[in-house]
Amino acid sequence: MQKKSHYLESQVKFKNKSSLNISKSLKKFYIESYGCQMNFSDSEVVSSIISKEGYVPTTTLIEADLILLNTCSIREKAETTVRKRLKDLNRLKTNNKNLKVGVLGCMAERLKNKFLEQEKIVDLVVGPDAYRDIPNLLKDIEIGKNAVNVILSKEETYGDISPVRIASNGVTAFVSITRGCDNMCTFCVVPFTRGRERSRDPISILDEIQELVENNFKEITLLGQNVDSYLWYGGGLKKDFKKISDLRKKTAINFAKLLKLIARTFPKLRVRFSTSNPQDMSLDVLKTMSEHSNICKHIHLPVQSGSDKILGLMNRKHSRQEYLNLIQKIREYMPDCSISHDMIAGFPGENEKDHQLTLDLMEQVKYEFGYMFKYSERPGTLAYRKLKDDVSEITKKRRLQEIVDLQQKHSLYRTRSYIGKTVKVLIEKESKKSKNQWCGRNEQNTVVVFDKKNFKIGDFVDVLISNCTSATLIGNAVK
Ligand code: SAH
Ligand code: F3S
Repeated sequence: MQKKSHYLESQVKFKNKSSLNISKSLKKFYIESYGCQMNFSDSEVVSSIISKEGYVPTTTLIEADLILLNTCSIREKAETTVRKRLKDLNRLKTNNKNLKVGVLGCMAERLKNKFLEQEKIVDLVVGPDAYRDIPNLLKDIEIGKNAVNVILSKEETYGDISPVRIASNGVTAFVSITRGCDNMCTFCVVPFTRGRERSRDPISILDEIQELVENNFKEITLLGQNVDSYLWYGGGLKKDFKKISDLRKKTAINFAKLLKLIARTFPKLRVRFSTSNPQDMSLDVLKTMSEHSNICKHIHLPVQSGSDKILGLMNRKHSRQEYLNLIQKIREYMPDCSISHDMIAGFPGENEKDHQLTLDLMEQVKYEFGYMFKYSERPGTLAYRKLKDDVSEITKKRRLQEIVDLQQKHSLYRTRSYIGKTVKVLIEKESKKSKNQWCGRNEQNTVVVFDKKNFKIGDFVDVLISNCTSATLIGNAVK
């Protein structure tokens, strides 16, 4: 049997010492996450580590003794947002001299010591693989030492840490299965900030899910920069796997096997995963998805560009045709599977013809939705060192807008196809637009809103769709 989250444990422990009025002396921490889902998941790991040190979480900024920003470096804009936030926080520090501010995540890893020089407000800098050291670093701050740890690890997966589900809806949760990335796409800073790819022990993954199920969670999303390259053979780096014996190869667990194991162990749990990389997604994964009704039929399959020339410059290991072949296979195995994408507009060397190839690829796939970006040059990446950022800002903007407009059209085409059909929705929260409506998602990851009736958060409900926008399905619960 799994233990409950550390947050609850520490609360109980402190309650028992009520005669000392300990709660007053407990320090409070506030954590804010930027960027990808992995950062949100990491913040739950950090919360667990800090809770063990006697800190309790708060959602009120001014109450906090320790403020942590879990940062993102993926595009320049993400870093600018964090710097602005640090400026805002400066005011709080003027009023509260004991307040400590820490920077975690990818920006911490990228800027290291420079952070302390550039941003005077920052006391603590911790990279994604060094969170276990936070208790020691907090002690260093107390004695006026610089508190920086940005050492990347080849093994750290935080597998044994039971995340504290801060800001949770109590229904859906992230479970990380790999860390880092070895793909070295030329535009991407992640391999530098999150280090080498490593997989987490499947037993610890199953344990974490078991705990979630016991706590009434209904849906999990398995997380990794590249989930399809999950491989467990006892730990360490994937390249070492090649050197080990056939015996271990036979017992190794790849992503398809992990997915099957999870889907079968927890038949009532909804299972999602993100992100898939076209070069690593296997037919075994598609087969496993098609054979298990609790694995949601949605694949996030970033492509970045529709032009082979640009895919080559990006060091993506798939061609346009290989990508389209994979899409066709997905449709063969699961005709009802939704597909989403990431796309970059204005990569170095991209001309009008390349851009048209991107639009043409989108036209062929008609994605359900997508995340679309202007190329942002990141210091240290191969593209930064070898390629000239030669597409003008105006052109990048225009091409991005054309991509966004086309996606909007396709999203509407997809949502309209649900009108008159019944979809299964897991209720996650109240609709932002109406207190009388629930909001959830169908299997394909499309948002659905409908009247509350007697249903509650965490219920699975069949909803008959009667209307839609490009992003939302609107309907009525039928059971
Ligand atoms: N495999 C990862 C990808 C992380 S980055 C995942 O789990 O999602 C997310 C997306 O950001 C990428 O797919 C890419 O489309 C975009 N991106 C990354 N670096 C970028 C850059 N330098 N400029 C613009 N977009 C970028
Ligand atoms: Fe980045 Fe490419 Fe990995 S986009 S996270 S290097 S798959």
